[in-house]
Amino acid sequence: MEITNADVIAQWNSATQSDIERHGDEGDFARQHLLNPALFALLGDVRDKHILDAGCGQGYLTRWLARLGARVTGLEPATNWYHYALEREQREPLGITYLQADLSTCAGLEGQFDCVISNMVLMDIPAYQAAMRTCIQALKSGGDFIFSLTHPCFEESSTEWERKGYVEVRAYFQERAIQSGYGYWFHRPLSSYLNLLIHEGCIFKQMIEPQLDATLVAHYGRQHERNVHVPQFLLIHAQKA
Ligand SMILES: C[S@@+](CC[C@H](N)C(=O)[O-])C[C@H]1O[C@@H](n2cnc3c(N)ncnc32)[C@H](O)[C@@H]1O
Repeated sequence: MEITNADVIAQWNSATQSDIERHGDEGDFARQHLLNPALFALLGDVRDKHILDAGCGQGYLTRWLARLGARVTGLEPATNWYHYALEREQREPLGITYLQADLSTCAGLEGQFDCVISNMVLMDIPAYQAAMRTCIQALKSGGDFIFSLTHPCFEESSTEWERKGYVEVRAYFQERAIQSGYGYWFHRPLSSYLNLLIHEGCIFKQMIEPQLDATLVAHYGRQHERNVHVPQFLLIHAQKA
């Protein structure tokens, strides 16, 4: 059975209000301790920059960037996540524009942004190539495209690490859907993402494989130990030529 963008968006739309609120204003543990520090290291000073947060979910990062002085647009297709983000903006205005759209098919954003950020989104999208093209086309020339993924080389979950103490890699070359909390995400070899960037005329600038500080495991528990040894996430910074 082929899984479409619409199927994935419908699955995200099944999230409950408490799931959505649980992400708070800084995201979950992985975002707080691994993804956010790496994203901000790649972003640098965001003041006065025009940024697209592509697949913004409930908008924690969108709001954070706006509070730092960026002019931000959040794009999110799943109605309940989009509505939460929009309600937050109505309650506490930060000047954010929200769009409800599918990144693979939306038009009208071309050449507008200094930076496009897509945090943990592209591996969830079946038509990821079209989604990446939208991100790149939305940039001004010289603009930055920053995205994070579940690390395509070491995707096995942290729960498995707790049980075994190592990460298993099987069928790396086989693109496939993997069942997860909100339906499916998609394994693809790392080269699928990197070659598309290059093919679309981007310059590869930097990647970060965030590593967890071992002292945090002592504090927060062994379920986080895997990230001290094997990266669970990969962040890529490319620049539109
Ligand atoms: C793992 S969440 C990440 C959300 C947010 N970026 C964050 O870090 O909290 C993945 C998000 O991608 C969105 N998404 C799924 N398919 C999409 C598509 N075709 N276009 C844009 N966003 C999509 C989901 O609705 C969900 O909000």
